[in-house]
Amino acid sequence: MQHENLLQLPSSNDPLRVDRRGLDILNSPWLNKGTSFTLEERQELGLSGLLPPFVADMEEQVQRVKENYLHHSDPLDKYIFLTGLADRNVTLFYSFLMENLVETTPIMYTPTVGRACQKFGHIYRKNRGMYLQRRHKGRIAEVLENWPKSEVDIIVISDGSRILGLGDLGANGMGIPIGKLVLYVVGAGLHPDRTLPILLDVGTDNEQLLNDPLYLGMGHRRVDEGTFYEIIDEFVAAATARWPHVLIQWEDFTNDKAFPLLARHRERAPSFNDDIQGTGAVALAGLLAAVHHQESTLSEQRIVFFGAGSASVGVANMICTAIADEGRMSTAQARELIWLVDSRGLVSTQRGGALQEHKQAYARQDMTADSLMEVVRQVQPTVLIGASGQPGSFTEDIIKVMNRHCKRPIVFALSNPTSKSECTAEQVYHWTDGTAIFASGSPFGPVRHSGKIFIPGQGNNMFIFPGIGLGAIASGATQVTDSMFHIAAKTLAQMVTDEELAAGTLYPDLGKIRQISLAIATAVCRLAWDDGIARYDEPEDIREYVRRCMWHPEYRPYVPV
Ligand code: NAI
Repeated sequence: MQHENLLQLPSSNDPLRVDRRGLDILNSPWLNKGTSFTLEERQELGLSGLLPPFVADMEEQVQRVKENYLHHSDPLDKYIFLTGLADRNVTLFYSFLMENLVETTPIMYTPTVGRACQKFGHIYRKNRGMYLQRRHKGRIAEVLENWPKSEVDIIVISDGSRILGLGDLGANGMGIPIGKLVLYVVGAGLHPDRTLPILLDVGTDNEQLLNDPLYLGMGHRRVDEGTFYEIIDEFVAAATARWPHVLIQWEDFTNDKAFPLLARHRERAPSFNDDIQGTGAVALAGLLAAVHHQESTLSEQRIVFFGAGSASVGVANMICTAIADEGRMSTAQARELIWLVDSRGLVSTQRGGALQEHKQAYARQDMTADSLMEVVRQVQPTVLIGASGQPGSFTEDIIKVMNRHCKRPIVFALSNPTSKSECTAEQVYHWTDGTAIFASGSPFGPVRHSGKIFIPGQGNNMFIFPGIGLGAIASGATQVTDSMFHIAAKTLAQMVTDEELAAGTLYPDLGKIRQISLAIATAVCRLAWDDGIARYDEPEDIREYVRRCMWHPEYRPYVPV
């Protein structure tokens, strides 16, 4: 296949031929440049007199946005303000986000997006993305035709059944596919005009929402499993028929659906589940950086997970692959270094009752235990990873018992949003007298302990998924493989500097996200070509090719058609 089929983007100097005039342009968030239209453009496009006289550049516009943004103190108000900006001027929205990336990422995504979802029906302003519903069953292809873009590179789809750690939020979950795609654009330069958020509204079992008069979803309970899978199958067939190369990212499905969905569709369409695979890769990257810092190896660790859902099993799978990759043991032997604890205690073959399929490979045959404390006492872990959505579950006693057997315990409290974190950064540093190596799912600020400043790392999936997405799209990969996540984790871990490690940070500065995504996407592309699963011809210089695929929020000159 020729390279002109790829997403190579025009440069910011290439004029865009515009077939609209006047308010039609100003009212289109994709075309609007606000006060940045030049005098010639105003003259030629029927904009004269419709704008204040001053011609601003992007920098001045960003400054004005910042001033307005800072008027809001509540993060949710900031979210609403920025969403309004995206509704008016997409280019300026992304320019502002990229200039203020570290400040705005927790607004557009976790933790604030969690609150936005909880109140989605109450703060709703304008349509974005698509809602597929039970009543569309049998005609999903026809409904997808209503999306006005002939090119879609990526769809993020959720059924809102497990939003962050906040449970079933039904159609309110739409905030997540929207937010995630914003991060793809910011993080890896996917073209915003070619992204599609979808909320699959198959009902909700959340009583509060069902009784909320402002809830915007279908007011019925969740459909049965058979209907759910039929709708999903129909969606995949319809989406890949309309956009044959589209990458599908499954997002925030409950784990009883997340694993089967991934298994069922990953070979039919390029698709992945970020909660499973992205989390796996980002946690593995943190762990690789931590063991590197300790001059140890993964196979020397004893790893206890609190929570045995999508995130934990995704991380466990990725760790086992990486341990096998170290060459000292097989994947099966690597599983022996892992203990999963769920709401019923240690996941074990001896505890009675059925075990969900995704837990079975990790079920211990050698012991039972009812509580996390009991497991910590018996196993004496070197690594404790929380992905349970249970705030405060890493107590002082548990961390201290762990620290008794392990001089530098590695503690990851991955549950999101911040209110669900198993413990705070401050607690861990204090309880272990600064010896712990800590990372979290939601951001924590720097902590001072005994005169030293610790900067906790955020195991943010944003380090991984944008680069994976860009690499898969740029190569036209027919599948998104586990090896891609493994290489992404290794690439990320290598980008942490010694200074960052010394300050306790296991991840690079998020401000470098575009460089990180470029490196990951390049590695992913290389793998796709090596493995023979890329649809496109291999370019001479993969890195340069990927770099040219990245969209930047810049205004192009407009000329009338
Ligand atoms: P999930 O629903 O698939 O799994 C939750 C697990 O926690 C289940 O195994 C459940 O049995 C267990 N659990 C629930 N209550 C418990 C209790 N009282 N004691 C012990 N275990 C209990 O959810 P998933 O997708 O695994 O996500 C879990 C958390 O991880 C969420 O808060 C989510 O936001 C977070 N997460 C963080 C990521 C990151 O930091 N990069 C990425 C993905 C998820």
